[in-house]
Amino acid sequence: MEVQYIDWNNSIQILNKAYDAGLFVLIIGPKGTGKTSLVRDFAKNMNLDLESINFSLRTRESHLIGTKTLIEGTVRFDEGLLVKSMKEGNMLYLDEINSAEADVLLRLDEALDDRRQIVLKESTGEVVKAKEKWFVVATINPLTHSGTKELPPQILSRFPVRIRLEYPPENIELDIVKKHVSGNYESEIIQAIKLANTLRQAAAVEELFYSPSLRETIAFGKLLDKEVPPKEAANIVFGNVYTQWGNIEYQKVSDIITSMFGN
Ligand SMILES: Nc1ncnc2c1ncn2[C@@H]1O[C@H](COP(=O)(O)OP(=O)(O)O)[C@@H](O)[C@H]1O
Ligand SMILES: [Mg+2]
Repeated sequence: MEVQYIDWNNSIQILNKAYDAGLFVLIIGPKGTGKTSLVRDFAKNMNLDLESINFSLRTRESHLIGTKTLIEGTVRFDEGLLVKSMKEGNMLYLDEINSAEADVLLRLDEALDDRRQIVLKESTGEVVKAKEKWFVVATINPLTHSGTKELPPQILSRFPVRIRLEYPPENIELDIVKKHVSGNYESEIIQAIKLANTLRQAAAVEELFYSPSLRETIAFGKLLDKEVPPKEAANIVFGNVYTQWGNIEYQKVSDIITSMFGN
């Protein structure tokens, strides 16, 4: 099911202007705030072909540049997504770029600087120059997220347009959740969003270890669609995860859920 993206903070307009100006964009925000959905929606509306790389510690240079393969005695070079997007002038989406290792970032930096070109030292030494309309959008999670590293300043500077995407205001989160569910449980969903915001605030001041995202408030609504009672859905989606940090952590949240959804 393709859900219509709600552009509640005018991000699409900024992406449009950046695209027209040939400036690369960095989207900063916690997980589940709609970063990937925003980028996909923009690419779809603009009719741009989108290549996506989701970075982790295991992402190697070869994912970006390409790999040599030997087929029936001849060496072939399979282009990586970075090289492919440059050659074709497509849109490149670098998701969670701050999980990438330093050597990978260094290679990216080569392509992202003002010359917008890269030397294929791993194959023919060919210089690949990006097509005029090549467009790069990256995302990073705030540093509080485990596994994330600070993005080196020279990489940051390649993305001079920065969009902040936070958890939306309550009424907008309600509209978003309603796009994903079919039933009419407005008051229960509002209650779940209030719960999520309480947990987010506690996580922001490090009273809790985990901050629920829009994925959770959407999942809550979807469980109601499947006739799970609201309190049970709240425990399943919002409560149980805290067991990971022990019973005291879980009990704190469980008490909040009981106070909001009754016994
Ligand atoms: N503005 C929005 N409009 C519609 N759906 C949204 C919006 N923001 C978030 N969502 C939904 O929330 C979920 C998480 O969004 P996603 O784009 O994957 O977040 P991120 O990439 O920031 O982790 C998805 O199911 C997405 O459809
Ligand atoms: Mg994402």
